[in-house]
Amino acid sequence: MPRRPKYTAKTADRHALYEMSVQAPENEVHFLDRVFRKTYRRRPLSLREDFCGTGLLCRHWVESHKKRTAVGLDLDPEVIEWGRRNNLGQLGKAQERARLLREDVLEAKEPLSEIICAFNFSYWVFKERSQLLRYFESARAALAREGMFVCDLLGGPDAQCLLEERKSMPGFKYVWDQEEFNPIDHSLKCAIHFDFPDGSRVRRAFTYDWRLWSAAEIRDCLADAGFSKSEIYWEGTDKRTMSGNGIFTRRSKVQNEQAWVAYLVALP
Ligand SMILES: C[S@@+](CC[C@H](N)C(=O)[O-])C[C@H]1O[C@@H](n2cnc3c(N)ncnc32)[C@H](O)[C@@H]1O
Repeated sequence: MPRRPKYTAKTADRHALYEMSVQAPENEVHFLDRVFRKTYRRRPLSLREDFCGTGLLCRHWVESHKKRTAVGLDLDPEVIEWGRRNNLGQLGKAQERARLLREDVLEAKEPLSEIICAFNFSYWVFKERSQLLRYFESARAALAREGMFVCDLLGGPDAQCLLEERKSMPGFKYVWDQEEFNPIDHSLKCAIHFDFPDGSRVRRAFTYDWRLWSAAEIRDCLADAGFSKSEIYWEGTDKRTMSGNGIFTRRSKVQNEQAWVAYLVALP
């Protein structure tokens, strides 16, 4: 049996724990590939990952096909450096096809991309509609003619509650903490903590100061930014566990759920 890693608050690397707890890059590559192929009947090659953090998705994207290229954008030099070392650094020759850049997504000056994505609700840092609109306009302008913008969103009554969700991971516990929600302006403050078997904790390893945007608001804003179409991909339910089954299909009417995560795909 593989030995459980022995993490403590002193030895653990918060970026590595984040990647393990939160990200599922293989599923995302699969989703992006499937939806693009269905839309344009060919394989997508170029990806721009906005708010890329450690660039884990960029790494998996270039690994998934020898012609694929990826550029990740993030404001934080520390996380970019970590990603270059630990993700792009593991790519060997494929490293030539991936770049992580310290850039504001609002000011990005990259060549046109077939796919631009913003995952883990990162675009919710734009709390004013004018900022969100500016982001969507600049993303649209940076898309190839056959292109798509993809983001995720969350909702359901739980999204407005103060709660802590714990998930057991090998050697540690991941804690998602919704610390504050203001129903007047929909500002939502969240944090991630990591707990370890020796009783130590990395408190507020990551913090988020967001606006909880609704699907309808986001789609209206995408339309105002000039996108011709936007569609929601809703997660199916596993009949046995009654939780999400990881299969996202295009839907326009669904029953609300206590807590849900969906993808949104917009075409230029
Ligand atoms: C929640 S992390 C996202 C990490 C990764 N994309 C994921 O899916 O888990 C959000 C990241 O957005 C970055 N960020 C915030 N505002 C930004 C901006 N205007 N331009 C580029 N990056 C930004 C932060 O530095 C942070 O690393």
